[in-house]
Amino acid sequence: MCGIVAFIGSRDAEPLLLEGLRRLEYRGYDSAGMAVLNGKGVEVRKRAGRISELENVLGTQPLHGSVGIAHTRWATHGVPTTRNAHPHTDCSGDIALAHNGIIENNDVLRTKLQELGHQFRTETDTEVLAHLIEEAFEGNLEKAVAAALTQVDGTYGLAVMSSRDPEKIVVARNGAPLLLGVAENGTGELFAASDVAAVLGHTRKVIYLDDGELAVLTRDGYQTLELAAWETGNPPEPIEKEISHVAWNLDRIERGGYSHFMLKEIFEQPQTIRDAMRGRLLESEGTARFGGLMQLSGSLDTVERIIITACGTSWHAALVGEYMLEECARIPVEVEYASEFRYRNPIIPDNTLVIAISQSGETADTLAAMREAKRRGAVAMGIVNVVGSTIARETDGGVYTHSGPEIGVASTKAFTSQLTVLAMITLMLARRRRMSIDDGRKLVAALQELPGQVESVLEQQAVIDEVAREYWQHTNFLYLGRGSNFPVALEGALKLKEISYIHAEGYPAAEMKHGPIALIDENMPVVCIAPADSVYKKVVSNIEEIKTRGGRVIAITSEGSGLESKVDHLISVPSTHEMLQPILTVIPLQILAYKIAVLRECDVDQPRNLAKSVTVE
Ligand code: F6R
Repeated sequence: MCGIVAFIGSRDAEPLLLEGLRRLEYRGYDSAGMAVLNGKGVEVRKRAGRISELENVLGTQPLHGSVGIAHTRWATHGVPTTRNAHPHTDCSGDIALAHNGIIENNDVLRTKLQELGHQFRTETDTEVLAHLIEEAFEGNLEKAVAAALTQVDGTYGLAVMSSRDPEKIVVARNGAPLLLGVAENGTGELFAASDVAAVLGHTRKVIYLDDGELAVLTRDGYQTLELAAWETGNPPEPIEKEISHVAWNLDRIERGGYSHFMLKEIFEQPQTIRDAMRGRLLESEGTARFGGLMQLSGSLDTVERIIITACGTSWHAALVGEYMLEECARIPVEVEYASEFRYRNPIIPDNTLVIAISQSGETADTLAAMREAKRRGAVAMGIVNVVGSTIARETDGGVYTHSGPEIGVASTKAFTSQLTVLAMITLMLARRRRMSIDDGRKLVAALQELPGQVESVLEQQAVIDEVAREYWQHTNFLYLGRGSNFPVALEGALKLKEISYIHAEGYPAAEMKHGPIALIDENMPVVCIAPADSVYKKVVSNIEEIKTRGGRVIAITSEGSGLESKVDHLISVPSTHEMLQPILTVIPLQILAYKIAVLRECDVDQPRNLAKSVTVE
């Protein structure tokens, strides 16, 4: 989704901003632009399409100046054209800004500003901000930005600069992430960005802004201020913000010899699963512990009901979590799409724990659902990957998945880490209730074996490659699974459709005969997830039903299951504790989707229309 990077210092801003934009590419975008203060005024370059298009323009018309802002846009209001790309300027061209989020009262504000004589050049909601700031400007940029923002309904992460108050960049945040980066080279250079990846090449010292905060960046340092304080009429007092040290380094956000980030991330999974477990398993006690849940300890003992809310792949992880928690911890669980939950009138009785799962920690719907649940008295727990993200900061307690930056738009390693964390939370809750120490120890041992087992699944690339080569030109796929492998079927189908644009559906295997069976013929590859678990025989019956109708079956099954004679292709995975099996069965599906997408020459890491972090509704 949209990305912002800004720089103020003593070097030329252009190459630094361009580098920052490249690091934001993974979030998904359809146009890019940059504005720099060149000593005389604001100069803007922008282009629809890839950042390379912008780079071509900058090649012939470079920008010189050491104060600049840049943006990658993912269109919401107004088609993705060069004209609609950010930065946007006011009527005079003296104020430029880049914005992430949505201005909901854009229409009203636009009409009002047009009546005052402002000339609009784009179809975007963002442009109203430039004109509002122009209208409020009396010589001080931060004051004008604060005044403009009081009129705005909606969400923003914002970076603004002006040739009329030139030695600064003003940034503000409400509902869209924004951070400051303090250069570690002792020069006093400052960055601002919507994502830490944009500044990681220069610093790991960052300050995360909270909603309702504004910061002023100058060559002498930065000040963070509360937007609301302006409303009193007095200049606000600066607020102290903690500096965080990002644990990732640049290697984690580079491809490191892999042809795509997605492939790198699939292959990182033995390590990321290990990282998710590090320091959390207590072998002798047969349980797990989490530093981030200490403050929830009392609530965890009294919890009577769990609601898990999430979107997309994280929602699939939530569905697997439902099986885990109900089966082992015997706590009733409901899984809710965050986008639905936030607008319903949910019933949240006492002793309800709400778990929000999010890789990015910034997904707008998940954040809103979590806030709604808290408003209604639930205790909120987060399972989040990105450290310092909004969901991570707003939950009452949480567990980081520690999978490192996930750059490929299609989520892979984050999913298996979410499942690993859910399994450990289940273990902890189950041991506080009815699970015996012996069963707890068995689960701990099974968790510890997972990284090695994932490695053995990854060794099967060649088999999966054969399957991909046989079916990559097909236009429909069906994915079937039962029990906790039903969500895996959903996830396999989602991976295929999002990166290869093939229509794919996931179904509970037994539901097939209630409708989808009508689709079965030799042109319909059916991926059946059939590990040797408690429902194995049932899935085998479903496989027979497909075969008798001429369907082609690709089975993901346990080593030694003996399914060879019944299916067209067999990919085997090691056996593990039934609760953990989805962590192994999903990996061949990730690889299959990846290989098919490559054969179809799709843009694997940045599939069309998709964004990595969906920070708008
Ligand atoms: C699919 C995918 C998306 C995300 C969804 C939620 O591969 O990545 O479906 O899972 O947008 O994102 P997070 O987990 O960041 O809240």
